[in-house]
Order: sequence, then C-alpha cells, then structure tokens
Amino acid sequence: MTGRYDQIHARSLGDPEGFWAEAAAALDWEKRWDKVLDASKPPFYRWFAGARCNTAWNALDRHVENGRADQPALVYDSPMTGLTRRYTYRALRDAVAKFAGVLAGLGVTKGDRVIVYMPMVPEAAIAMLACARIGAVHSVVFGGFAANELAVRIDDATPKVIVSASCGLEPGRVVPYKPLLDGAVAIARHKPAACVILQRPQLRCELVKGRDHDWDEAFAKAAPQDCVPVAATDPLYILYTSGTTGQPKGIVRDNGGHMVALHWSMKNIYGVDPGEAYWAASDVGWVVGHSYIVYAPLLHGNTTILFEGKPVGTPDAGTFWRVIANHKVRAMFTAPTAFRAIKQQDPNGEFIKKHDISCLRTLFLAGERADPDTIKWAEAHLRVPVIDHWWQTETGWSICANPVGIERLPVKYGSPTKPMPGWKMEVLDDDKKPVKPGQIGALCAKLPLPPGTLPTLWKADDRYRKAYLEDFPGYYKTGDAGYIDEDGYVYVMTRTDDVINVAGHRLSTGGMEEVLADHKDVAECAVIGVADAMKGQLPLGFLVLKAGVTRPHAEIVKEVVAMVRDRIGPVAAFKTAVVVKRLPKTRSGKILRGTMQKIADSEAWKAPATIDDPAILGEIGEALKGVGYAKGGKAG
Ligand code: COA
Ligand code: AMP
Repeated sequence: MTGRYDQIHARSLGDPEGFWAEAAAALDWEKRWDKVLDASKPPFYRWFAGARCNTAWNALDRHVENGRADQPALVYDSPMTGLTRRYTYRALRDAVAKFAGVLAGLGVTKGDRVIVYMPMVPEAAIAMLACARIGAVHSVVFGGFAANELAVRIDDATPKVIVSASCGLEPGRVVPYKPLLDGAVAIARHKPAACVILQRPQLRCELVKGRDHDWDEAFAKAAPQDCVPVAATDPLYILYTSGTTGQPKGIVRDNGGHMVALHWSMKNIYGVDPGEAYWAASDVGWVVGHSYIVYAPLLHGNTTILFEGKPVGTPDAGTFWRVIANHKVRAMFTAPTAFRAIKQQDPNGEFIKKHDISCLRTLFLAGERADPDTIKWAEAHLRVPVIDHWWQTETGWSICANPVGIERLPVKYGSPTKPMPGWKMEVLDDDKKPVKPGQIGALCAKLPLPPGTLPTLWKADDRYRKAYLEDFPGYYKTGDAGYIDEDGYVYVMTRTDDVINVAGHRLSTGGMEEVLADHKDVAECAVIGVADAMKGQLPLGFLVLKAGVTRPHAEIVKEVVAMVRDRIGPVAAFKTAVVVKRLPKTRSGKILRGTMQKIADSEAWKAPATIDDPAILGEIGEALKGVGYAKGGKAG
C-alpha cells in the first residue's frame, strides 16, 4: 500500500505537466501558458512558456481583491530597535506600488536590474516586490558582505539603481552601509545611474549629490505604479551564491515556475493555511529570505514575520519564543546553527517556559546539515515535530523534505527525508552510474528539474552547463555527496566542491584563498572548513610564506584575517590561519584539502597513495595543534 506522499510524488514524475498545471491554477495569470514545460532546448528547460503574469500581483493585489486587504501581510519585529510594525496586505501593496513609482521615476523599466543592499527592514521586502511589480530584476546582496563582494555583483548584474540604507544593526554595533556602498561603486566598472538610500535614525549618512536619493523624500513624491505583466519565463531576480572561485554564480529565478512551486510548498510542505503566521528567521540576503520571508508566505496569503535580530543576545535566548508567542507563529523555519546557539545559552530551555508557544505546530530546519542532537533538543523542548529539509540557492525550494501538509513521514535522524514532487534523486559514482542503496556518491537530480529551480546562470549559460550539467549528463549535480537508503530516505553528508557552510551561510574557500594569495608575504595558501560546535563549520587558512620572509607569523596572520574581513566581509568568520612550511599535495600538484580537514577535525585519516611527501602531514598536524585543532585523529 502506498501513502499519499508516494502517490503524489509518483504522479509528479509520471505526469509533471498535469501536476504543475493543477498547482498553477491557484494563481492569477494574465495569459495562460502555451506549454507547461518547454523541453525543446535541453538541457535548458522552461516552465509555463508563453504565459504572462506578475509575481507582485499574485503576492499582494490578488489578496487585496479577494478579502485579505486588512489582514497583516508583513510584521516587522526588531529587537535591535525595539520596534514592531505591521503592514496589512493593502498597506504593503500600496507601499510597493509607491516604491515602484520611485524606481520608475529613476528610469527603471522591465528587465532592468536593481541591486538591493539592505539590512532586515521592511523596506528591503518593499524594494524587492516593487521590482517585481514593474518587471525589473532585483539582486539582493547580503549586508554582511564587504564592498568588494558588492562590487563584483554590481559588475555582473549591471544595475540601473541600487537601493540601500544608511546602516545595519548588529549586536553592540551599528554597521555603516554607506561607506561600503560608496566603496563598491568606486571599485566597480559599472556605475549605477542612481541610488536610493533609506536613512535610519541610528546613523544617518551623507548623500552623493546627483546620484543618491533619500528614500522618504522620493517615496513621498512618487506616483504609484500598476503591475506590469511579464513572461512567466522572464527573470524575477538574480541571487549570487558562492561557487568554487571568488566569482559568485548569479542564480536566475523566473516568475511563473517560481510562483507555482513556492505557493504549492506552503500548504504541502509547511502545512500552513492562508491567514496563518509563518516565520522564516533568516535574512533577505539569502535564498531562504527570498523564498520564505518574502515570496512564498505572501503568495499564499500568510502573515510573514521579518525579524531583525539574532537567536541569542537580542536581548537573550528567549527572543524566538517571544516572537512566536506575540505573532501566533504556526510554522517556523531557521538554520540549525540558531538552535545550537540557543541550546548553548539555555540548555534546559528555561526561556521557553516563559512564553506560551502553543500556537507553534512545526519547526523546519535547513541551510546546513541538521545534527540529530540539535533536532532532539528542539523536539524535547518545543514539543512539536522538527523537520529537516534540504535545498540550495539554486533550487529555491526543497529538494527533500517531510511534507507535513501531505503526510508526515516517519523521521529518520540525519536525513531530510524524501524527494519532493518533481525531484527524481539518484546517487551516482565517478563512472556516472547509480550506486546501490546506502552507498555514498554524488547526489544528482534527473532533468528536467521542477518549477522554481534555476533555469540558468545570469548571462552565463555555459557556466551553468559546466558547473551543474556536464559531469553527469542528463542530471543536475547538486554539489552535495550523500546516499539514499533502502526506504528511499536521502542523506546529505558533505559538499563535493570548495563550498563550506558557516552558521548556515554558504561561503567559498576558493574565494578566501584568492584573498590570502594576495598578501605580499604569502607564496601559497589553502583554506579548509573545520568542524565547529556552534557554526557547523569555520574556515581555517594555511599559509606558506615566500622565501626570506622573517616577520613574526602572528603579524601576518592578523593581516590576512583583516584582509578577508575587509574584502569578503565579517560573515566569512575567518579568524584562524597557521603558517606551514609546505602544503601536502599529490604528485600531480593537487592540494590535499580533504586530508587536512580530517586531521584538523581529529578524524581517522589516511595519506593518499598519490601524496608526494607524507611527512608534511605530520607538520600540518603540529601546526593545527597550536590553534586548538587536530587533537586526536590517527593516520589509518
Ligand atoms: N551586516 C553586517 N554584518 C553582519 C551581518 C549583516 N547583515 N550579518 C552578520 N554580520 C557579522 C556579525 O556581526 C559577525 O561579526 P563579528 O565577527 O564582528 O562578530 C560576523 O558577521 C559573523 O556573523 P554570524 O555568522 O551571524 O555570527 P554571530 O557570531 O554574530 O552569530 C549566530 C551566531 C548563530 C547567532 C548567527 O550566525 C545566526 O543567527 N545564524 C543563523 C543563520 C541563518 O539564519 N542562516 C540563513 C540560512 S537559513
Ligand atoms: P545555500 O545555497 O546557501 O542554501 O546552501 C546550500 C547547501 O547547504 C547545500 O548544497 C548543502 O550543502 C547545505 N544544506 C542545506 N540544507 C541542508 C540540509 N538540510 N542538510 C544538509 N545540508 C544542507
């Protein structure tokens, strides 16, 4: 006997067009599609080809017209400022229409790009939705990235306008955004025609005459804009994510498929009904923020919570429970690292007892591997199901999850459960062949991917093909390694590339190596991700100095740490590096990062047969001991 999940999953693979066309019927279309799936140019696929729609209409106006005008659409809860602000669907629609007027007044039209570099304020969501309203393509850049990272994105996306704020707020410090923005514009080859700056009272900034516009002034004068219908296949946004090098990948999201998949996910995966409050405690700079702070909850008629704060320290480890209780949150979504931080400060869950969180039905975790200890702690203290689900910036929504709105499948700790509709997952070996259940290999998804996933990379079809499609023809390579057990449960173990995951933030060790290599005394370097009890992983650098450098190593380490913070940003959390005489390599010159990581994490390790000089590994171990790593593992 098969359950509901099995039936739905089988149907989605057997009749994808029928399945997604049914899901699409819940939304408004200016013109329906000619073809649900255009598969005429494999390996490029397009969903809802020929359709015309508007994502902002479906996220806002549709609800205003259909009886939700006075329901809260977005609640801004900021322990950083002590403010709570509520927008009804009508108020949010009106604000978005006005800000769309600001953008239109600055010459932004359909297809133009707008970069949004903002802290967690409602204006960030308003700017995103305003772009969607007029068919402009937004690209949100996370506030914890430095000027250089912003500049790289400016050059790739070539925005007509950048929307930013005077400052962000981190515990204990105000982060001035304006110098970062000005620095980025100075570094970038492409110059935006205009910037719109939200002046926050915590730190106002100088505006550049002729380029910068004050948000409030421009907003007051703007003429509200109507929704502009776009092709379902037109880009809604570009979101840059870390790849193997310092050049991030511009993930493209379309309008039609994205709306359909996200809308479908709210009831079926998250188990919420329209009108209920849903909270993704992430940042609009990440994909979780795009999908589950802004688009999905609004498309589904929920109340979304936009939270400016941290799980701990703003002011304490009880903040999450206060937000859940105050706003009657039914489903919450965050990264495991947030729970590890709370658990560390409040191991017995004393803060939880101070709030009535009986409204909460389910907790969802994603962004990094959810360790069973954290899941069990959350289950024991929150007394609700805790659902691990696996997805990526590229996919925009879950590859694997436990779809509580369909059927709650038995939990297997360590597994994000089973593939969602449209996802046919296989584990392939180096010969591109499927492996037996339980055997580790590359986690790959059979093409075509379901709606909502990346159709390509921004202006880089070739890079898209090379990065994701070439190694396993006919499949999308997730970049994760893992296995599928006899019952079809998927286990995600590790990345197969240079991506590490620090506190749920995706970072490139390759990008950090590019920065270290720029230091005048560094001849060669490597960065690996080492295990961290709170953040999951932390980056750790190895430096080989140029011959004749006699300066104290501590000084050089301090300088490279500052360089990474300055060029990539504080979010990289790069704090540790060691100086070594040589790096362990294979005879063909490949740095043995995997072995170094095992030594650092005190795991059992084996020198590969191809190593050119095994003695180096002992030296690496000694250097790592000096910074608190490599305490136990043995060469096997
Ligand atoms: N703007 C400017 N700086 C930022 C920033 C932003 N938007 N976000 C983070 N930073 C800075 C932090 O202030 C910190 O700086 P510091 O080195 O001076 O202390 C640094 O970047 C690292 O930040 P973070 O990784 O957030 O670590 P933390 O020690 O401040 O907090 C946690 C630890 C666990 C509380 C925090 O990482 C967290 O809430 N994680 C959840 C992650 C998440 O939501 N991920 C999204 C995927 S679902
Ligand atoms: P991002 O693109 O920032 O969402 O990061 C995606 C990567 O985070 C994935 O490729 C995985 O390596 C990791 N990841 C996300 N969710 C999970 C999960 N539930 N379990 C294990 N790894 C995860």
